[in-house]
Amino acid sequence: MNGTFESIKTIVDGLNNASLDPKAEVVIAPPFPYLSWTKEHVKASNVAVSAQNAYERGDGAYTGEVSVSQLKDVGASWVILGHSERRHVLKETDEFIAAKVKFAIDNGLSVIFCIGETLDERKADKTMAVNQRQIDAVVAKLDKSDWEKVVIAYEPVWAIGTGLAATPEDAQEVHAAIRKYLTEKVDQSVADKTRILYGGSVNGKNAKTFNEKQDVDGYLVGGASLKPEFIDIVNARQ
Ligand code: PGA
Repeated sequence: MNGTFESIKTIVDGLNNASLDPKAEVVIAPPFPYLSWTKEHVKASNVAVSAQNAYERGDGAYTGEVSVSQLKDVGASWVILGHSERRHVLKETDEFIAAKVKFAIDNGLSVIFCIGETLDERKADKTMAVNQRQIDAVVAKLDKSDWEKVVIAYEPVWAIGTGLAATPEDAQEVHAAIRKYLTEKVDQSVADKTRILYGGSVNGKNAKTFNEKQDVDGYLVGGASLKPEFIDIVNARQ
């Protein structure tokens, strides 16, 4: 829930004027009111537009919700689901999030599916148990082919917006465990192909430090995406 028309215009202008790594797949996720404008004005072909949420049902009497078909209508091709703020502030359950993931995929959106443990859960040695529980709800709903439309974002809650990113080693450890879990719960090819992003205090300086970690496939960026350094993150793999 950040941004104004003016600030979002600045971000889009910045992307349009930058030289972006042509191999990077960039997805920007402005709040709902700015999706249409953003889609119309972003120029680079490797920049897609995402919503930050969607509902689990089609159009109808669900006042205040936004449907997948409406998002597609204004040019979104992705949706972020399960973000920690949806889980912890808005109290969305694993099952509700999983239902939204399935509905979005069935109706033509790709999904950035977020998971992650809180600091208390990490301290209690429950990191993988929590991430597995969040993944299980989605595994139960998806067909194998649905996974082609899913990118997982591992975002430890303690690292989001705190300035305290996970170390590349910590991120790699969890990402590798997530991939192994996908092998067990879905299959090897899905585990190999599913991209796993790291999110939580990624910035223009630390993005490169994750480059050599083989299971870190990219980033989900919050605060730094609102600043010019976002371009450095996009280009971190060059
Ligand atoms: P951050 O946010 O990059 O500011 O930590 C990440 C997020 O909101 O997903």
